[in-house]
Amino acid sequence: MPLQDFHDLADLSTEQVNALLALASRLQQHPEPRALDGKVLALLFMSPSLRTLASFQAAMTRLGGGAFVISPDMSIHGLESRPGIVMDGMAAEHIREAVPVIASYGDAIGIRAFAERRNLDDDLADREYNEMRGLVSAPLINMESAIQHPCQSLADWKTLNELGVPQNGGKFVLSWAYHPRALPLAVPAATLKMAAMRGMDVTVLRPEGFELPAAIMQQAGSLAEASGGSIRETDDRAEAMTGAQVIYAKSWSSTAHYGDKLGDEKLRRGKEDWCVTEDWFGKAAEDCRFMHCLPVRRGVVVADHVLDGPRSVVIQEAQNRMYAQMAVLHHMLAGGAA
Ligand code: CP
Repeated sequence: MPLQDFHDLADLSTEQVNALLALASRLQQHPEPRALDGKVLALLFMSPSLRTLASFQAAMTRLGGGAFVISPDMSIHGLESRPGIVMDGMAAEHIREAVPVIASYGDAIGIRAFAERRNLDDDLADREYNEMRGLVSAPLINMESAIQHPCQSLADWKTLNELGVPQNGGKFVLSWAYHPRALPLAVPAATLKMAAMRGMDVTVLRPEGFELPAAIMQQAGSLAEASGGSIRETDDRAEAMTGAQVIYAKSWSSTAHYGDKLGDEKLRRGKEDWCVTEDWFGKAAEDCRFMHCLPVRRGVVVADHVLDGPRSVVIQEAQNRMYAQMAVLHHMLAGGAA
């Protein structure tokens, strides 16, 4: 039975993930330009994108189908998403009508809606995305919500396989990085779960106050237990990086001051040295790789010499978004093995 709702990589078994990855590699090596002949993918972007927007359109075109994009900044009537609102402001259309209408034009729909970052419990429950999810009966792909980014994780798993990073026993560091603004938790949460599912020994490296939410750490811990991997957390950079085969850098909001802009700003002030430079790799494996989902701020999150150097695999990760999504689309709409 094909997947109907690609939402959280952890909803899939390792066998299903491996089948999707095999399909992604097959489609990369042996293109199937007629596989989705006549199929249409609807893409609703409530939040901005470069890679997700372009890679989904490219994926559909490469499989012989088509895609259309809707976003609030287009010439549409203004989209309201708050439940129970009296719509006497600028927005003339509510997602309650817009989402099912957009979905009805496609054979599948992808939706992106970033975290509101006002209330941690709401974002952990993916409240806004789940409201839209409840309005869709077509096959649905999460293109990043408050706490999920399954397409990024599937692509990153593919990249790790291509790099030969061991499934079990591979040493993976997920590191907080400095950024002038508080960013969502979706990528670190999804990356942590992906690395745990893959059976790696994962260290979350972060300064005090930037611990990932307990619910995410617990879910990742259970996934690691099932796969034979492990999860630990530290603020000791040298210890975390010892023997590391991969460092995945990402900034995220302070969970201690979630939704509190001033509190978060105060906490991150002075942490500009959480910018990945070659010095970080002193005790790492010689060929330790640098990963990031992009977009990335040069000289803030990572130094140019790392991003432009041989450790960096960020372009490979971004390209793999397209192949991973081709596999998901092929599986959902043409019954490709998974
Ligand atoms: N990594 C990622 O999702 O990139 P975009 O935000 O550009 O889509």
